[in-house]
Amino acid sequence: MRIDIITLFPEMFAGFLDYSIPQRARKKGFLELELHNLRDYSTNRYKSVDDYPYGGGAGMVMTIEPIDRCISALKAERDYDEVIYTSPDGPVFDQPMANSLSLCRNLILLCGHYKGVDERVREHLVTREISIGDYVLSGGELAAAVITDAVIRLVPGVLGDETSALSDSFQDGLVSPPVYTRPPEYKGWKVPEVLLGGNDRLKAEWRYEKAVERTRERRPGLLKEDSAFKAE
Ligand code: ADE
Repeated sequence: MRIDIITLFPEMFAGFLDYSIPQRARKKGFLELELHNLRDYSTNRYKSVDDYPYGGGAGMVMTIEPIDRCISALKAERDYDEVIYTSPDGPVFDQPMANSLSLCRNLILLCGHYKGVDERVREHLVTREISIGDYVLSGGELAAAVITDAVIRLVPGVLGDETSALSDSFQDGLVSPPVYTRPPEYKGWKVPEVLLGGNDRLKAEWRYEKAVERTRERRPGLLKEDSAFKAE
């Protein structure tokens, strides 16, 4: 999978890309991630990428020209499945969205700033908008990093153990059950007996029951109407 991120602050991605799963995905060749500094596409002699809004109002607006030049340059090289604009007004990102994006070959993520982009970018250049939650960030970079991380870990081969992505919270509509590791007892706090035993069926049942119980307690909205375990 290839992800092109268009941003005013490419340096913001450095730490995130050089660690953990994103780093592994890149090293193994599952992820090609390119950062594009929007200012490089400005034809203005001050390399500016924003301007005052027509009709007045507070804040600056990102101009269409550098964004169009950057997206056009990328599209001249390959086809893209989606051009995603990260914005607080988009549909909120969730696991099904991450699943479907993980099937894409090429994605563009455009990080918003200031008061947002000229509306014509949304109308003519962007194919979808994604918010990562109902709060406003200073810019779209963290949102692009969140989306990239959630998507690439689902690309087959990125995680060593294929089942670990499938057993993530939300993949089966449930949050994850509790997990434990050694020691079996610490300060008198014990690991549940069933997990220490040898019966795999009982362990699987325990994990499933705990996942349902936790979902009911913490995220009852995830339990579907037609589920065998309806939220009270
Ligand atoms: N840009 C600013 N806030 C955002 C949010 N919540 N999601 C995505 N992009 C954003």
